[in-house]
Parts: sequence; C-alpha cells; structure tokens
Amino acid sequence: MPFPATRLRRLRRTPALRGLVRETRLDPADLIYPMFVEAGLSARTPIGSMPGVDRLSISEAVKEAGEAHALGIPAVLLFGIPADKDPEGTGAYDDEGIVQLATRAIKEAHPDLLVIGDVCLCEYTDHGHCGLLTSTGEVDNDSSVELHAKTSVSLARAGADIIAPSDMMDGRVGAIRAALDEEGFSDVPVMAYSAKFASAFYGPFRDAADSTPAFGDRRAYQMDPANGDEAVREAILDVEEGADIVMVKPALPYLDVIWRIKERTGLPVAAYNVSGEYAMVKAAAAAGHLDERATVLEALTSIRRAGADIVITYHAKDAARWIQQ
Ligand code: PBG
Repeated sequence: MPFPATRLRRLRRTPALRGLVRETRLDPADLIYPMFVEAGLSARTPIGSMPGVDRLSISEAVKEAGEAHALGIPAVLLFGIPADKDPEGTGAYDDEGIVQLATRAIKEAHPDLLVIGDVCLCEYTDHGHCGLLTSTGEVDNDSSVELHAKTSVSLARAGADIIAPSDMMDGRVGAIRAALDEEGFSDVPVMAYSAKFASAFYGPFRDAADSTPAFGDRRAYQMDPANGDEAVREAILDVEEGADIVMVKPALPYLDVIWRIKERTGLPVAAYNVSGEYAMVKAAAAAGHLDERATVLEALTSIRRAGADIVITYHAKDAARWIQQ
C-alpha cells in the first residue's frame, strides 16, 4: 500500500471540491446588524474606535436599516442614546423614547425588517449601571427587573419584533415574559443575553453609547470570563424562564461556551461579535496588518461553526456584500 493511505488533501484540491464538502456556510439571513440611534442628532456622528459605525438620527437609522435589509440582513438591533440621563433611566421605558421612536419609524418604512430592542438601563442612567442603585451603590436586582419588564412592554408597543434583555439581572427573562404576555404580546419572542461576560471587549461600545459606569464595573452582575459551567446554568435558567433564543457574548473569546450552550439547550443560539472584536479587526486592517475581508469572513464562519445559529455583528453589511460576491 502506498504511503499514506488516507489523503485528506484530495478533497481540498480545487474550489469546487472544497465547496462540495464545506460544512459551514455564511448566509446574510443569519446576521443581525446593531445600530446606535441618538436623540437630537441632525444626521450622523462617527464613533472613533469603530470606523464605519456611526451614531444615527432617526431618519439616518431608517436609511441604514433599509440598506441592511436590501443586502438580505433580516434584523437590526437598536441601542439608544437619550437626550437626558437620570438615576432611574426613565428614557428606557418612555413610550416616546429614542428607541421607541426609531422602532416605529423603521417598521413603518421597512415592515418586513425585524427590529430587535436591546433592553438595559445603562445607556439611560446617569451612573451608567444596568439597573437601579441601592443607597450603598449596588445594583438592586428585583427593582431593576421591574423596569426592564416595563421597558420591554414599551418596546413591544412601539413595534419591536424581538425583545433582547442584556442587563444580566436574575429572573428578568421570566418577568419580561410575564409582562409581555399580560400586555397582549405573547407572540413577541425573547432573545436573552444569557451568558454575557464582564468583558473588556465592550470598551468601544461604551464610548459609542456613552454608557461607561461612573464608578466601579459590571462584575457584580455580568459573568466572570473564567466560568463555563455557570454560563450553561445561566442559559438553562433562561430557557426555563421562557427565552426563545439564548445568546453568548462576546463571541470569539467564548466559542467553547457557544458550543456548550448549543449542545445543552438545542435552542437557537445567537453570538454577539462585540464592539472590541470589531475594533481590533478594523484597526489591524487599517494598519495593513490584516486582510479585512478574509479576516471577517473567517471569524464569522468560526462563530457559526462553534454552534451559533445567529451572529450579531457590526460587520454585517460588509459581510453580506462579500458573501454575495
Ligand atoms: C448594554 C449592552 C452592552 C453591549 C450590548 N448591550 C454594553 C455593556 O454591557 O457594557 C455591548 C455590545 C458591544 O460591545 O458591541 N448592557
């Protein structure tokens, strides 16, 4: 017998052979495009650490959403930067709040595009934490959950197709599910940020959304990056509380967590390729150290291969264009 007997290179010889045996494909239909909408803005403001991503006025958000939709991207995820912040984050659950207004405008212009509302108080509180503070400066779980439920109902009323709580309070998925059902939104799914880690990779987002905590950090509610078993527990709890889609965030440093959660829940799993992951690629590409297109497509494919059904990424529009070429 000639050596070696097994030649895996046989199926790698030509593009057609490689295409035939390719296990994972990227499809724009699996992407979600996050956008920042700012109150009182006349057009767009670039975000320094995230080249290609801008803070948008409502009319620019409608345009941007339309472009994403035309590229075959089925959903946008909205974050709001309100005109005023206060200790209770009232802008989050104001029916005339920035994300509520943007949701109505986008749904009116593009009824088939899914609008997902991120639910968290950190962009709306003057202290930048994801909930209400106690007198000793801790984030109070149960009173915060009530406000997240209220925010969810307000977003659903504005026309949001999916509610995505990103606050990491205990019991919020159950509370949000109950509140949505009670208000007649039993058809609106919850995509839970189930395993959201206390990550350094959110840095550029916090510049973009102006949501850096005024003191301390988020480690008393977001997860310790060292923990995988706990991530699985978080996901299972969210499933028990009624989550329809579970999410892992960030994506690339946590591919093992995506895999474990997919295996254990069997639910649709989303992975959030976050602002810092985006900023690293953009910076390295701008410096000529990386080929942006090849790097992005490899990264997104790897996230899908790890078990994510859905990828939330600031690269979505570029990726959709590259996939279609
Ligand atoms: C709100 C929220 C954050 C992100 C999504 N929702 C920031 C944070 O938790 O500090 C980060 C997204 C990104 O970095 O792209 N809680």
